[in-house]
Amino acid sequence: MQKKEFSQLPLKDVEMAFEKFDKPRNADYQKIKLTRQFLRKIFSGFSSRKVLHKRDESVEWFLMKHKSTKERYPYYEEVYSRCFKDFPENFTVFDLGAGINGLSYEIFSKLDKKISYVGVEAVGQFVELMNFYFEKNKIKGKAIHESLFNIDKIKEIIKKQDKPRIIFLFKVIDSLEVVKRDYSKELLNEIAPLCERIVLSFATRSLGARKKFSVQRGWILKFINENFKVLDDFELGGERYIIFQK
Ligand SMILES: C[S@@+](CC[C@H](N)C(=O)[O-])C[C@H]1O[C@@H](n2cnc3c(N)ncnc32)[C@H](O)[C@@H]1O
Repeated sequence: MQKKEFSQLPLKDVEMAFEKFDKPRNADYQKIKLTRQFLRKIFSGFSSRKVLHKRDESVEWFLMKHKSTKERYPYYEEVYSRCFKDFPENFTVFDLGAGINGLSYEIFSKLDKKISYVGVEAVGQFVELMNFYFEKNKIKGKAIHESLFNIDKIKEIIKKQDKPRIIFLFKVIDSLEVVKRDYSKELLNEIAPLCERIVLSFATRSLGARKKFSVQRGWILKFINENFKVLDDFELGGERYIIFQK
């Protein structure tokens, strides 16, 4: 955690990652090296390092420096209008594993919605950047530095905000699954009763590449179909979005 990119990660996530490599066959330096490689894949690999300390660039500049928001950029308006279809004017959005997606807030206003935004993210620097942006632009938004593995805290955060509530889980389930298998299902079961709608997305091609993923997403689709009512399901810009409710 002496490296800047890992310096503000929740200890819990770092410990869970370290445990995977804390085996007698690995020397101490290997344990650290392997843990860092793993953490990079989950937390910082999607983003340019410049995002970690820059402040004075435009929103577009930042959104283009993170792979997820960059790929979504041309489609934001359509994605959000489908997410919010038939929802009232005022509501709360919880963006779990937000990255820097809170910086897309101005798209909400374009859709004539008055949204209170709460982003939850493990990378402290992304949290600081989003909060800086919200304060500077007097936006009704906040970012919270918390691990999605801290399920009680996540539920507390959700319960504190006004209804109706929509939860985003954009491109984050892969990260959760590599740390703890089937955790996405556990998380969905816990948070679904607290909100009116969930939007989950995953990449249909590997980030940056054009090739379609060969990985099977059948397990999550089956789980959603069996336990929830699907309202919409579409693909845009190499990202598949499933909108569902309890
Ligand atoms: C691929 S990025 C997607 C970011 C954003 N949801 C988007 O689509 O624009 C995954 C994000 O999830 C965050 N993340 C991964 N595991 C997490 C955890 N256990 N707790 C909180 N955030 C996590 C990472 O730090 C990263 O910012």
